[in-house]
Order: sequence, then structure tokens, then C-alpha cells
Amino acid sequence: MANRLKNKIAIITGAARGIGAKSAELFAGEGAAVAIWDVNAERGKATAQQLQAAGGTAIFCPCDVTDSAQIENAVNRVVSELGTPNVLFNNAGIAVVGELEQISEADWDRQYAVNVKSIYLVSRAVIPLMRAAGGGAIINMASESAYVGFPMHPAYTSSKAAVVHLTRSMAVRYAEDNIRVNSLCPGTINTELYQEFLAKQPDPEAINKEIEAMHPLGIGEPEDIAWAAVYLASDESKYMTGAPMLVEGGILSL
Ligand SMILES: NC(=O)c1ccc[n+]([C@@H]2O[C@H](COP(=O)([O-])OP(=O)(O)OC[C@H]3O[C@@H](n4cnc5c(N)ncnc54)[C@H](O)[C@@H]3O)[C@@H](O)[C@H]2O)c1
Repeated sequence: MANRLKNKIAIITGAARGIGAKSAELFAGEGAAVAIWDVNAERGKATAQQLQAAGGTAIFCPCDVTDSAQIENAVNRVVSELGTPNVLFNNAGIAVVGELEQISEADWDRQYAVNVKSIYLVSRAVIPLMRAAGGGAIINMASESAYVGFPMHPAYTSSKAAVVHLTRSMAVRYAEDNIRVNSLCPGTINTELYQEFLAKQPDPEAINKEIEAMHPLGIGEPEDIAWAAVYLASDESKYMTGAPMLVEGGILSL
């Protein structure tokens, strides 16, 4: 176990599986106490138990990040069981797939509720605690999609562009409180979310090859993003705020 996140108390939303779960594992391995927030209780509990079995400090808090009452309960649990959070990784996200004319109004609203509004709701609950404790680091999950106009999911791409800009606004506002706010922009990462996206395509194998070819380094793994999150959560990035951190396999250099 290393100590890059010693004395950090971290909330990671959407950490039952995928990039969030890998981040929880690496955060705990670097000495952070980790609160896993997710709607998926079965997987969330299992992830927390794995981290505990490996010698880490982790709890699972059931929480839908679009629900402010559930957020309040989850924050209270973190404070009473782990202490005041000084790292918040707003990672939870969903991907509504479908062109503009294909998706429903409810899908559009849900996309923005989970990917964007949740950052507002969770951050406004956590920032006062961070401020009182002397500062902290917030990481907002964006995507390469913030910069690439992928035609097959305009709701998703635009929601991630909103995350990048919301992050800038938060960074400028909260610098005086010693709270750094950065966004993380992964390329395509092989998670269950990506596999579910492929499964909805008429020819998943062909689309996978196409997406792989679009990235000079191919498709990434959850740890590629989780290590970047460790850096943004740690004091190693103490002069960095408002930045969209690109870990996108080179697609934006094309
Ligand atoms: N996989 C990729 O290619 C990729 C690329 C760029 C950005 N991202 C972003 O990274 C984040 C994680 O993606 P992933 O691939 O690990 O996805 P994933 O679906 O494997 O994991 C997302 C987790 O978020 C949880 N979640 C969903 N809605 C929630 C809600 N309302 N409240 C609480 N938890 C909720 C899910 O239960 C799940 O455990 C997302 O924000 C995603 O948009 C993913």
C-alpha cells in the first residue's frame, strides 16, 4: 500500500463498478478512506467488501445522486463513519444512446439529471464541509465526448461538455476556499457501460473496431482513468484547477 492519498476521505459516486470501482480500489490502496455511493447496492456492497478484505477503509452508501434527500443521508453517513470528506469524485454517469430525433424527452432529462445536475446537488452538499475543513479536491467526470461531436448520442456528448464548463466555473469560485475542481475526460474505456452501448448497436463488433481505430492508443482500461483520478485527488496536483484532464488515447490529437 502506498500513501499518495493518506489523510484523504473520499466520496466516489457511481463506484459500484467500472471506472468508479477501480478508482475506489486505487484510492484505498493509496491510503484514502473511501465512501462508495451508488444506486446498485449489491455491487456497491461487494466492492466495499473487496477493499476492506484487501486492508483498505471503505464503506458503501446507497445513493441516487439525482435525489437531494438521499445525498444528505449519504453525506451524514460519511461524516459520522469516516470523517469530513476532502475529496469528491463526481463519477456517476449514464449514456443515453440515440440520435436527436430518436430519443424521448424523458431520456434527455434523465441524461442531464444524472450527468450534470447530480454534480450540482452533490457538490453543494459537500462544499460547505470541505470549506470548513480547510479545502479539498473535486473531480468531475466528463469525457472525450465533450470535444467530439459523436452523432449517435448528442444528449450524452452535450452533457459532458456542460460538465467541463461547470467545472471551470466551480474552480474559479472555490479557489479562495482552497477547493480545487478539475474535470477528467476519458477516451473510450472498456467497462460494462461501453459493453452495454455496443450491445445496442446493429453490428457491435464492427462498431468496436471502428471506435478502436479512432483512438491512436485503442480502447483504454478503467485503471488508465483511475490513476489520473488519484493524481487529481492528491496534493501532487495542488496547482491544477479548472482543467479538463485528457486521458483519451490520443483521439483529440488527430
Ligand atoms: N466507459 C467509457 O468509455 C467512458 C468514457 C468517458 C467517460 N465515461 C464516464 O465515466 C463514468 C463512469 O463510466 P463507466 O464506464 O465506469 O460506467 P458504469 O456504467 O460501468 O458505472 C457507472 C456507475 O454509476 C452508477 N450510477 C448510475 N446512475 C446513478 C445514479 N443516479 N446515482 C448513483 N449512481 C449511479 C451505476 O450504477 C454504475 O455503478 C461515467 O460518468 C461515464 O459517462 C465513461
